[in-house]
Formats: sequence, structure tokens, C-alpha cells
Amino acid sequence: MRLAYADPPYPGQSHLYRDHPDYGGEVDHAELAGRLWAYDGWVLHTSSPALGVVLAAVESARPAELPSARVLAWVKPFAAFKANIPVAYAWEPVLVRPARPAVVSPRSVSRDWLAEPITLGRGLAGAKPAAVCRWLFDVLGADPADTLDDLYPGTGAVAAAWDDWRGRAATLGDQLTIDGELAAVSVAAEMDCDAVAAENRDDQDQGEGDGRD
Ligand SMILES: C[S@@+](CC[C@H](N)C(=O)[O-])C[C@H]1O[C@@H](n2cnc3c(N)ncnc32)[C@H](O)[C@@H]1O
Repeated sequence: MRLAYADPPYPGQSHLYRDHPDYGGEVDHAELAGRLWAYDGWVLHTSSPALGVVLAAVESARPAELPSARVLAWVKPFAAFKANIPVAYAWEPVLVRPARPAVVSPRSVSRDWLAEPITLGRGLAGAKPAAVCRWLFDVLGADPADTLDDLYPGTGAVAAAWDDWRGRAATLGDQLTIDGELAAVSVAAEMDCDAVAAENRDDQDQGEGDGRD
């Protein structure tokens, strides 16, 4: 299937990229929405202030036979906190049209939000963390055999995350992933269970010894 990943300058923010060779002023989100719906599945990043206009553009370009896009939240525990902005902009909406219907599977668990700090030191405003991309590939229902068009490549972080994700997906087998992260999480959970069980046993042993119930 053909997938698209759109991470354009957000409405009103194109000036951040004025010096870039691919700068083309404000992105026409109505035109972009039309292009996205031609794919089997797609992701569109935007900002919370722009959510209303972007959602309206996406919805009015939607082919009647297709369901509305899903709105997810990328929550940023660490974001750009500025003295003159009393309520920080610390989450971003992401619109997704999954390529495949969601399947409840023991192999993969995804949420409609992800908490992940912003990246620093990439030399580009809005460069996306690999964990955010992996989460969205999972939500897309992507398959390693799919093609992914990164429509606004910037640092190339999305394409790099896609190559990494495809490699992992091919070797995952039946291992559990949660929000795009694999084994470490489930192994840690198992270790925690073992540790809790051992602690309970210790407590019981001690409890029997010192008269507690
Ligand atoms: C949010 S950044 C993409 C970041 C990228 N996903 C990453 O993780 O590095 C948006 C990119 O779109 C480019 N751009 C700016 N104006 C544009 C326009 N009108 N049309 C196409 N690309 C544009 C910017 O130069 C920038 O590289």
C-alpha cells in the first residue's frame, strides 16, 4: 500500500523555514488534504491553534466513502517553555488515516496519544523524534512492504525512522509492542511482575515470622 507522512510548516509558522531551499510560503492545506486522501493511509502533523482549520480542510476533501481522519495527541513532557506564553503549547494534534482497519492483536498495543519530549540539537524547528514516528507507523497499520512518501523531509528523520521500523517489524515475530516500543517494555513488565511476586513472598515469610497476618 502507499502511505504518506506530511509534516509541513504549521499554519502561520512558515516563516520559521524562510531560509530553507524548499521554502514556499504558507502551505495550502486544502490542496495538501486532497493529495493525502489519494493515498491508502497518511499522517498529518499540525499545531493545536491550527487544528480547527486543518481539520475542516481535511474533512472537506474527504471522499464520501471514507471515514473521517482520527485525531491523536503527541504530548510533550519537555517542550519550549517561554516567559511570555503563560500556558505553554505542550501538545500537538496528529491526524491519521490508517491504511488498514485496526486489528486487536496480542502483538501490538497503541494508544491515541504518546508522551515524548521534543528533540533538541537537530538544527531544524519541528524535527520529529523517532519514537513519535514509530508510534504513528503502528497507528497507520503500516506493513514493512508498504511504500512511504515523506512529503516534507526536513532532516530526513521520518525516512530514517521508517527504515528502522521496517527492519524491526520484519524481525519482531510475535513479540509484543506498546506504542511502537518493543521487547524492552514487555521484558521490563515481566521483570517487574517477578520482582513484585518475590517481594510478596518475602513479606509473607517475614509476616509469618514476626506475627503479622
Ligand atoms: C516541520 S519541518 C519537517 C521536519 C521533518 N519531518 C523532520 O523530522 O526533520 C517542515 C519542512 O518543510 C519545508 N517547507 C517550508 N515551506 C514549505 C513549502 N511551502 N512547501 C514545502 N516544504 C516547505 C521546511 O523547509 C522544512 O524542511
